[in-house]
Amino acid sequence: MPTTEQVMEALSHVQDPELGRDLVSLKMIRDLVIRDGVVAFTLYLTIPTCPLRGHMAKEAREALLKLPGVEQVQVEYGNMTDEERKEVLNSSKRQLPKLNTMNKIGQVFSVMSGKGGVGKSSVTAMLAVELARSGQKVGILDADITGASIPKLFGLPAGGLRGGDMGILPAITPLGIRIVSSNLMLKEEDAAVAWRGPLIAGMIQKFWDDVLWGRLDTLLVDLPPGTSDATITVMQNLPINGVMLVSTPQELSGLVVRKAAHLMNRLDVPILGIVENMSFYRCPQSGGEHAIFGPSHSAQLAADLHTELITRLPLDPTIAEQCDQGKVEAVQLPEMAALAKLILAVPKSIP
Ligand SMILES: Nc1ncnc2c1ncn2[C@@H]1O[C@H](COP(=O)(O)OP(=O)(O)OP(=O)(O)O)[C@@H](O)[C@H]1O
Ligand SMILES: [Mg+2]
Repeated sequence: MPTTEQVMEALSHVQDPELGRDLVSLKMIRDLVIRDGVVAFTLYLTIPTCPLRGHMAKEAREALLKLPGVEQVQVEYGNMTDEERKEVLNSSKRQLPKLNTMNKIGQVFSVMSGKGGVGKSSVTAMLAVELARSGQKVGILDADITGASIPKLFGLPAGGLRGGDMGILPAITPLGIRIVSSNLMLKEEDAAVAWRGPLIAGMIQKFWDDVLWGRLDTLLVDLPPGTSDATITVMQNLPINGVMLVSTPQELSGLVVRKAAHLMNRLDVPILGIVENMSFYRCPQSGGEHAIFGPSHSAQLAADLHTELITRLPLDPTIAEQCDQGKVEAVQLPEMAALAKLILAVPKSIP
């Protein structure tokens, strides 16, 4: 029969796919009993309804059945308390802030979605503009390394980043918004960045550690769609104060948004609320609003996720045009005010 150490060693190769960490370091394996060819344990879940529990139990079972003398594996489920979950998740965070000592950042918010193309980057940029207009010092960290689009929205050319011994200097827009993006590091705007997980995580970390952001009231982090490695890197390694979920009315069940929200709950990151983009079309002649993608389900979605529907943004061809032409700083969108107000209301943590 294997020893406890051998069993734990085998289980340390089984991952929680969502958190990207192994079951042992997540302290999920408890009540281990090894006797008469049977290995039994309780798999403690960070969230009782975790849809991945069956998958993790299966992988654990397979790993243990490879050990000599193991004939049967019995897995029961248990639930961590809120405190245990927080402790386990915090233990995986880097010691914060390992931020460049020159930087003073009041708060960090991230914009995420389930699906691609729902307008995350546009919303991030328009929010930054709205905050800058109200006198805030704002930065955008473009954590969408392989699909960076923030510089384009502001009309910033490729190769626009400078650096010195002290660190990387962000590009600065006419409104004073500081921007760092992989796109600004390339010689040509269209050059492809075909990087895999670890490199992407490293780059995001550099954007936090090595950029001379200076003093900012708010740093916004634009993410790639879904719950990829980049999302997890941002949530675990940056001091995120909250996330805004961007959704559109077509996402009928909002299933993908629910998945993103589920991950935020597991990572203990507060959800500020939902922004429904491309919500309606406002007729320029009559001023009437048309729900061209059908009725909105976002209020229900927000209620289900115990959060609020912050604002509904119109589908507006002028916005698309201004964004595509790199003139996001010219966008006038009254519906953004509610979002900016929410951000401004959060107390700053600048020392
Ligand atoms: N409210 C809007 N009205 C009109 N067009 C919009 C609106 N919001 C976004 N768009 C347009 O939709 C397209 C996708 O937007 P955007 O790039 O912001 O989405 P995204 O969620 O960041 O995409 P990705 O998942 O690829 O990062 C862009 O061409 C943008 O100009
Ligand atoms: Mg984007």
